[in-house]
Amino acid sequence: MAFKIGLLGLGTVGQGTAAILLDRSGRHPLLQEIELVRVGVRSLSKSRTIALPENLLTTDLEAIVTDREIDIVVELIGGLEPARSLILKAIDHGKHIVTANKAVISRYGAEIFSAATEKGVYVLLEAAVGGGIPVIQPMKKCLGANRIDTVMGIVNGTTNYILTRMQAEGANFDEVLQQAQELGYAEADPTADVDGLDAADKIAILASLAFGGRIKLEQVYCEGIRGISATDIDYADRLGFTIKLLAIASRRAESETNNISVRVHPTLVPQLHPLASINGVNNAIFIEGEPIGQVMFFGPGAGAGPTASAVVSDILNIAGIITTSSSGVGGAGSPHPLMTCSHQH
Ligand code: HSE
Repeated sequence: MAFKIGLLGLGTVGQGTAAILLDRSGRHPLLQEIELVRVGVRSLSKSRTIALPENLLTTDLEAIVTDREIDIVVELIGGLEPARSLILKAIDHGKHIVTANKAVISRYGAEIFSAATEKGVYVLLEAAVGGGIPVIQPMKKCLGANRIDTVMGIVNGTTNYILTRMQAEGANFDEVLQQAQELGYAEADPTADVDGLDAADKIAILASLAFGGRIKLEQVYCEGIRGISATDIDYADRLGFTIKLLAIASRRAESETNNISVRVHPTLVPQLHPLASINGVNNAIFIEGEPIGQVMFFGPGAGAGPTASAVVSDILNIAGIITTSSSGVGGAGSPHPLMTCSHQH
């Protein structure tokens, strides 16, 4: 059984994803069954580092999401529109979805997952949080027995890269931000990174997973790193702390019910805490639950290769489940519940 992929977007992560799909040797055997058949772009003439056969490219994104031949639509255009409309249209046409779009999921997850459930298709979003770090599926599939008290972490690579360089070299904020953009870590509009909005989207998704129900973006207190100076970093260091932009979701101690505090802000992290040593573009998600205790997921949180690793793994997960269910091993052809609603509402 072959799976045909329609890719929307050929930016940093789109090119990383196409690179894996076009160079399959030595990777997972199921990748041999996955074929990239269309790539939707805004401009055909834009220069790109990846060379794709010309017949793959189109500027007609609508045609991809309605194409009968395509099984899985991979949305990597980012932003709210037209991403949301294209995802919904693709679902309506029976396509499975893989997306790295934390902004769309944090705002429109309820609408998207409800549409997917109705159509019996999968929506996976491993790349939306933590870049290449496996965290969404592990939280869903491996931590379900726990009562989660806290999910906190460094979930924005750009700001962690900036703070790390400012700390190590006393470097200036603007200069380091420009380098982060050149390296492909920062969002097209770096405001989303430096003002904490990207981290707010991500912690809203993680909090929804950890605590059930829907955590709305409006519930997330958000403060970025623009106000952090070299002097702040120096004083923190002398007092035994490292300044990190943390995204934190925790159950309020006094609450028996799901009264959750969700926030993003620069935080004084004791230098002995594992999150203090997460440097550069790396991300880490630290979870405390009962009975597991403390667990931390760590790895590269942004960039073409790591994020594409998560995207292609989601494609393989969908292909694997469909292959298993159509062979009769997995029973009925309807989606496995853990795969359908990766985000609870
Ligand atoms: N701009 C994001 C970051 C990309 O720096 O973490 C990954 O979501």
